[in-house]
Amino acid sequence: MSATSHSHWDERYRSLEPDFTPAALVVNAVSLLTPGRALDLACGAGGNALWLAEPGWQVTAVDASAVAINLLHQEAARRALVVKTLVADLETGKLSLDAGAWELIVISKYFQRDLFVPVKQAVATGGLVITSALLQEPGKKDSPFRVQRGELRGFFGDWEILLEHEPEVIASHSLAEVVARKPRV
Ligand SMILES: C[S@@+](CC[C@H](N)C(=O)[O-])C[C@H]1O[C@@H](n2cnc3c(N)ncnc32)[C@H](O)[C@@H]1O
Repeated sequence: MSATSHSHWDERYRSLEPDFTPAALVVNAVSLLTPGRALDLACGAGGNALWLAEPGWQVTAVDASAVAINLLHQEAARRALVVKTLVADLETGKLSLDAGAWELIVISKYFQRDLFVPVKQAVATGGLVITSALLQEPGKKDSPFRVQRGELRGFFGDWEILLEHEPEVIASHSLAEVVARKPRV
């Protein structure tokens, strides 16, 4: 993604009231898990990262927007929570993810096709990926930032699908959602 697109996100985070509400998908999937190491990619202002840090997940949160990461820092300090952060462009492919390093990787409301191979290998055996992405609207020009119907679960064909959801009728903000567990071999 170009520098211009990132400034677009910076501008949005500067102009909007920050929203630290965690995604229901994350809350529902994680509530009963024992906290471990969690990576939140394209974390935004960090609603999910902060919610995970609260019960003791060791969270690292990554986003291309320095403004969003700054909002996350301020809110973490206000709540006396520790969240490691990194400003990085995921599209450069330069973020190296160690194999089996994370019990949980969250990619919420962000879609990048080439992220799934490195993300899957970075999850520990028995660990989860929780992901959601905007669905491609029928009749609209294909966007690389939107997922086709059925595509998201396809990245996890060799994993256990714990949850998948796509609305029957797709509108502009409709999300595909998947929670998948890396099998114990
Ligand atoms: C719709 S927001 C989702 C934020 C958060 N994950 C959530 O669920 O609310 C998309 C986020 O992706 C980030 N983003 C966009 N392109 C990116 C890239 N190439 N690398 C890293 N982050 C990116 C934006 O800065 C923005 O915070």
